[in-house]
Amino acid sequence: MGHDRSVRFAEPTVSPRVLAWTSEQFAERIDEAMAIYVEAMGYSPGAGHQRALTARNHVHIDGFACRVALLEDDSLVGFGYGYTTARGQWWHDLVRRALTDEMAREWLDGAFELSELHMLPEYQGRGIGREVLTQLAEAIEHRTMLLSTPDADTRAFRLYHALGFVDLRRNYLFPGDSRPFAVLGATLPLQSDGP
Ligand SMILES: CC(C)(COP(=O)(O)OP(=O)(O)OC[C@H]1O[C@@H](n2cnc3c(N)ncnc32)[C@H](O)[C@@H]1OP(=O)(O)O)[C@@H](O)C(=O)NCCC(=O)NCCS
Repeated sequence: MGHDRSVRFAEPTVSPRVLAWTSEQFAERIDEAMAIYVEAMGYSPGAGHQRALTARNHVHIDGFACRVALLEDDSLVGFGYGYTTARGQWWHDLVRRALTDEMAREWLDGAFELSELHMLPEYQGRGIGREVLTQLAEAIEHRTMLLSTPDADTRAFRLYHALGFVDLRRNYLFPGDSRPFAVLGATLPLQSDGP
């Protein structure tokens, strides 16, 4: 598999710093971010191009917030972003159908949807994804944060549970994807059970 060298970097021993980007800053580097998404998720480059188109729309949604992990030389090695979820959005409407009305009122209305959270494989498992997510959660004023993730024993799943996310729906099939997903939610501020 070919790699886009523009998102690669010197030594994985170098510690990235986590910082906030505006929607404009993120929009300028969406292609790099989606190259990370492709590597982190093991998807084809085509999936990254597709996702980049979607992300270009996401930056304009109310409540957009983003944190990135950057090396000294400005290389992007990880990112997380989301926005206020609302009726009419693809993910929101599907998740609303997956939940009971009561759960939707309690969790989904006015929630922050964590749309993407990815670290390059070389930088995973070092606490950086946790830092990206906790900084993002601290910066927003939403009551709850929701996300969907492949329903399996992954590092992502363990991280979310460790930060207080609970299962709202398991084994949910989104259209166009044969893998089951879990829909998770957390009330903010996040409650960490320690590193
Ligand atoms: C999910 C993801 C963003 C999490 O980021 P990360 O930087 O790897 O996560 P963290 O290092 O903060 O925490 C995850 C693990 O590292 C451990 N960890 C946390 N801080 C650590 C530190 N300072 N040193 C060593 N390990 C640490 C955690 O205990 C956890 O361990 P586990 O893998 O045994 O469960 C990243 O792993 C990733 O991109 N995965 C693939 C893509 C993906 O699944 N994205 C989410 C889709 S919803």
